[in-house]
Amino acid sequence: MKIDGAWHRALESDGWTVRVLDQRRLPHEVAWLELRSLADAAHAIRDMTVRGAPLIGVAAAWGVALALRDEASDAALAAACATLAATRPTAVNLRWALDEARAALAAVPPADRAEAARALAARIADDEVARCDAIGRHGAALIEAAAHGAARGRAVQVLTHCNAGWLATGDWGTALAPVFRAHEAGIDVHVWVDETRPRSQGALTAWELAQHGVPHTFIVDNAGGHLMQHDRVDLCIVGTDRTTRRGDVCNKIGTYLKALAARAHGVPFHVAAPSPSIDWDMVHGKDVPIEERDGDEVRFVPGTAADGRLARVRVVAGASPVANPAFDVTPAHLVTSLITERGVCAATEAGLIGLFPERARHLGGAA
Ligand code: MRU
Repeated sequence: MKIDGAWHRALESDGWTVRVLDQRRLPHEVAWLELRSLADAAHAIRDMTVRGAPLIGVAAAWGVALALRDEASDAALAAACATLAATRPTAVNLRWALDEARAALAAVPPADRAEAARALAARIADDEVARCDAIGRHGAALIEAAAHGAARGRAVQVLTHCNAGWLATGDWGTALAPVFRAHEAGIDVHVWVDETRPRSQGALTAWELAQHGVPHTFIVDNAGGHLMQHDRVDLCIVGTDRTTRRGDVCNKIGTYLKALAARAHGVPFHVAAPSPSIDWDMVHGKDVPIEERDGDEVRFVPGTAADGRLARVRVVAGASPVANPAFDVTPAHLVTSLITERGVCAATEAGLIGLFPERARHLGGAA
């Protein structure tokens, strides 16, 4: 996708050179950082230099490759996977990418492992983009249907939460891919962008949309219910960090409140879910490990000061305790549909198995 008219991915590689857009500085500064080691990759994931479920999976795959370039033993492979798995607990894409790496590389002789790991990381990055591209095509049909639905003579109004755009995936995005596709197809679409405190990923979404000329409006997290109540939202599309096999969806904190408001007002609530976000081993959303992040993310708000420099200001007095759960679970019954790379389905086990029949044989136990 584009930055000032030039095409980029959020993580770019050329041979062994891996560079990532520093998302801690966006949208205020465009800065690239090079990942040179396992430690660099682990740190970039943990401190959210790279973020978004699919992209942290890609970064983890690169972390494995960089580790094996230094030492390619079985022990080094296991240690790299353990280090990367411990960086962030909620997005299952991270575990998925590490499982892929372990499965593919364990059988490769150590002398060839580094090169195999490098090729695998590049392939996972490309596959992620291909999945997003497909989700964009399937999801754009939902936006197009909304455009044909009521002849209101106004743009289709989409509400999204957090950033599930190209910054979160490499290219296209999950929840934003349908928006980009619809916009490219000439459908009149406007996006309500939730700010998404405390990390304000909505500012990343607004920046992406602005770079592509997609009409949008940045709103505080509390505005969505009001807008839905006044018929100013036609559909919600959000991403997911972990989708259970019965269709519960874990996404950025605040997603659940939007789903509740959407249900109260009859607004369709769609979730863009690439297959690596599906945890086939997990039935119930209550079992998803919810990341608890540093309280300073709540105590302080970052931005740019009057002199243009990055700064942060305290918003709560020092004596008050804070809590910072980073994700919440939206139960399947509040989800209108899941948009996967293979098509759109109900947020149910039957719906998912309909699209991924090869998974049926792995399933067992109570639903
Ligand atoms: O904490 P983050 O910014 O990594 O959380 C990101 C989200 O919650 C996204 O909505 C999710 O990863 C889907 S991204 C395609």
